[in-house]
Amino acid sequence: MSEKTELIQELEALQKKAELELKEIQDAVSLQNWRAAYLSRSSDVMAFFKRLPEAPKEERPKIGQFANQVKTALEKQFEKKEIMIKQAYLDANLKNERLDVTLPGRKPARGRLHIQTLVLREIYRIFAEMGFQVYRSPDVESDENNFELLNIPAHHPARDLWDTFYTTKPGVIMRTHTSPGQVRAMREFSPEPIRVVLPGMCYRYEQIDASHEIQFNQVELLAVGKNITFGDMKGTLEEFTKRMYGEGVRTRMRPSYFPFVEPGAEMDVECFVCAGKGCSVCGGKGWLEILGCGMVHPTVLRNGGYDPEIYSGFAAGLGPERISMLRYRIDDIRNFWGNDVRFLEQF
Ligand code: DAH
Repeated sequence: MSEKTELIQELEALQKKAELELKEIQDAVSLQNWRAAYLSRSSDVMAFFKRLPEAPKEERPKIGQFANQVKTALEKQFEKKEIMIKQAYLDANLKNERLDVTLPGRKPARGRLHIQTLVLREIYRIFAEMGFQVYRSPDVESDENNFELLNIPAHHPARDLWDTFYTTKPGVIMRTHTSPGQVRAMREFSPEPIRVVLPGMCYRYEQIDASHEIQFNQVELLAVGKNITFGDMKGTLEEFTKRMYGEGVRTRMRPSYFPFVEPGAEMDVECFVCAGKGCSVCGGKGWLEILGCGMVHPTVLRNGGYDPEIYSGFAAGLGPERISMLRYRIDDIRNFWGNDVRFLEQF
């Protein structure tokens, strides 16, 4: 056998071996190793070019040509395999990381207004329709506005009605009710007639339980002018309860005592749980107390800058938390400021 045939046979054997190995390869790493073994500068195929001088001179071109053919053939097969493996990776990825656009999406949690913000707005709206405007007064009040000017002098036993948070500054307290806003509004508007709603947080030094909180909202109502009567008050408050609780709601008034009104009263609505029969919500009474009210006391009118001989007025104090508790059957006042979203997101 000539040298030529031997070299070519070797080459053919090498090609066969390379092709057989390539067939088995399934991954990119093995493919790169294969390329290093058969097609790199130091590979066996390349080594044949260096061995050309071993062959007789006239046969060298043929052998060289053949070696080139083998090299090109292996390169082509390498490229084919490379594409195949890449495609296989792609297919596997598509299968494993499939995005199913038909799956239901995850809803982001939506923020919402606090239940009491909603109830307060409803109260403002109802009174706005009757000509009352919102008047804001501060949470931190003087003892004078909160008590003194409302006809509750120091050491008066009526002060026991309000358990007060005092500040370190003498004479400065957290307001225990929205009534001090009456004095502020009167002093600002006198001698003009007034129709205002005074909303806001009030603070009391209380033992917290299901029906007592140390902070809660109140909405105060104040109307001052000439010839304002108890009848005007009754009509206004009855109209409010109808718009708030429904046309069919029944109300009643009972005499009561508050130092800043004379006469004073409390208003009840018929229990809408038992319709007046008596149940656990109304404590068997058939009625639910919803507000305190009365004709502004002459002393308070005078403190506000109105002559009680010429002017008269009515005032009322509503509890918006109580309104919500009755309407939505909320049995614990601590829910309002507990900030539990499971409660808050129901409204
Ligand atoms: N300020 C009273 C309280 O906090 C509520 C109240 C009662 C307000 C009668 C009034 C009223 O304006 O006339 O308990």
